[in-house]
Amino acid sequence: MPYQIKIEKTKTPKEKPDQHNLGFGRFFTDHMFVMDYAAGKGWHDPRIIPYSPLSLDPSTMVFHYGQAIFEGLKAYRSKDGRILLFRPTKNIERLNISNDRLCIPQVDPGFALEAIKTLVKLDEDWIPSLEGTSLYIRPFIISTDPYLGVRPSHTYKFIIILSPVGAYYPEGINPVKIYVEENYVRSVKGGLGYVKAAGNYAASLKAQEEANKKNYTQVLWLDGVEKKYIEEVGTMNVFFVINSEVITPSLEGSILPGVTRDSVIHVLKSWNIKITERRITIDEVFDAHAKGMLDESFGTGTAAVISPIGSLNWKGKTIAISNEKTGELAQKLYDFITGIQYGKVEDTFNWTVQVL
Ligand code: COI
Repeated sequence: MPYQIKIEKTKTPKEKPDQHNLGFGRFFTDHMFVMDYAAGKGWHDPRIIPYSPLSLDPSTMVFHYGQAIFEGLKAYRSKDGRILLFRPTKNIERLNISNDRLCIPQVDPGFALEAIKTLVKLDEDWIPSLEGTSLYIRPFIISTDPYLGVRPSHTYKFIIILSPVGAYYPEGINPVKIYVEENYVRSVKGGLGYVKAAGNYAASLKAQEEANKKNYTQVLWLDGVEKKYIEEVGTMNVFFVINSEVITPSLEGSILPGVTRDSVIHVLKSWNIKITERRITIDEVFDAHAKGMLDESFGTGTAAVISPIGSLNWKGKTIAISNEKTGELAQKLYDFITGIQYGKVEDTFNWTVQVL
């Protein structure tokens, strides 16, 4: 289907935020991409319009049954003036996997990339240049039938918005404190855990709020059946370095297959560092710590990048990891991966896509 993106530029550009004080997801650019779907017609009417509220009937299905998925990727401004995306096709691939799980129609991957690039180019002035800042790209799809019966919607909206961001965690690259969740579970095999469904995040809020009250940044989820195998942290996949071997939970159907997770695995292999994807219990991690073999731990995510884990609390016991300092490997991975993302390090993996 030959798509043509119609562009309507804003007549009232917004003031740009202070780059020193971006936080995460608080500011939005001048434009957004929108495309509609109707059964029998397919995806149609792709357009970029001024950033504006949506007007939806109160009966719109997404409000009631949560048929909503999203993605997160970033555009980076390099020192030599290029604008780079990091592995955008991986995000688009995962978008369609999420679509499949939620009975949402597939989007054309090539066109989705073109839509992202066209929008980023148009709002290029919004891409911040300070160290550690970027333009977060949030594609999402919602069901839009005004109907209260439970079934997949016949109509959808695919929308992309952009947000200039700094670090996701107030800690930045400094270690975060993590609470190992014992009561609530995030997902089970056969559920939605392996896709980016909005509902996964709704399900996580209660545990996260309780952990925040206890002064922890995020929760570490255990498996939903035995509550002993490590799954992931709120917004990140998780890695442990035990006795010089890097271990990350294998993708068993309840964990999000993170793009940064995959990148870290590739980089570690290229550095000849032993990296194993397998099931790992929380007991094993605490045991390794007791034996002095837990060298470091870190989380990975698009928003969080590489985030060292400074301490873990499980069943009332707290362990400090790497003396609550950023571990050597986490720092090296952070420097290398952000180096590629910002065009400072040679992109030997061919991961970046130049927008401008
Ligand atoms: C991302 O890392 O892009 C995520 O999706 C995490 C997000 C929920 C803030």
